[in-house]
Amino acid sequence: MVKRLFLMICSLALCVALASCATAEMSAEAKAVVDEATVEDTTVESETVSEENTEASTSVTTTEYVAHSDTLVVVFSCTGTTKAIAEQIVSMTGADFYEILPFEPYTEEDIDWTDSNSRSSIEQNDPNFRPQISGDPISLEGYSVIFIGYPIWFSQAPRIMDTFVECYDFGDAVVIPFCTSGSSGIGQSAEILAANAGSGRWLEGQRFAADATEDEIREWLKGITF
Ligand SMILES: Cc1cc2nc3c(=O)[nH]c(=O)nc-3n(C[C@H](O)[C@H](O)[C@H](O)COP(=O)(O)O)c2cc1C
Repeated sequence: MVKRLFLMICSLALCVALASCATAEMSAEAKAVVDEATVEDTTVESETVSEENTEASTSVTTTEYVAHSDTLVVVFSCTGTTKAIAEQIVSMTGADFYEILPFEPYTEEDIDWTDSNSRSSIEQNDPNFRPQISGDPISLEGYSVIFIGYPIWFSQAPRIMDTFVECYDFGDAVVIPFCTSGSSGIGQSAEILAANAGSGRWLEGQRFAADATEDEIREWLKGITF
């Protein structure tokens, strides 16, 4: 009887042990399935994300600039070089034209860059100088592309350009800077104007030499995308 009781207790203990093993094994299996599922999910998720990213990067489209009637060319030019480029842009695009005229016109002495006391030297040495503009102001309403041209003065845009950009709200318009110079590049001049403007979608600027050809200007226009 005692022996039978002992055998019963032993077999009961064995059953409990087997059952707990099975539970432990199932938990491990279940864990493996969950882990697998998580990995699959993660993979799917990351594939989805990377697909989305690819889609996002391929769906960034650039617009080629096509001449529109909602284009304006603004220019400041002291000796006519930048104005000549601006006029070519106007004839190639059919854009409207606006010339920034200084309230006090610049004389030859004023733009003597060899004289550190000339008006242009004094103005360019003072980043806060804002020469007054004369003539009728222009409304930028309705223009979605605005070309803005100026000569390089001491590696910068003339201060009157700051006066202009600070006076106007470019809104969402695409602003395309261009300049002429003896030899200097456009440098930081356009970025500084963009920062002072605080509005408009400014593209990288383009520098032209005084003898820029019609083809050169046309090719540049054809290559503009935004
Ligand atoms: C005051 C002054 C400063 C100038 N500074 C530079 C310069 O730093 N680098 C350069 O290559 N040309 C310089 N130039 C030359 C003009 O950028 C160049 O002649 C320009 O095409 C003139 O344009 P505009 O005829 O439209 O005024 C300067 C001219 C002036 C009057």
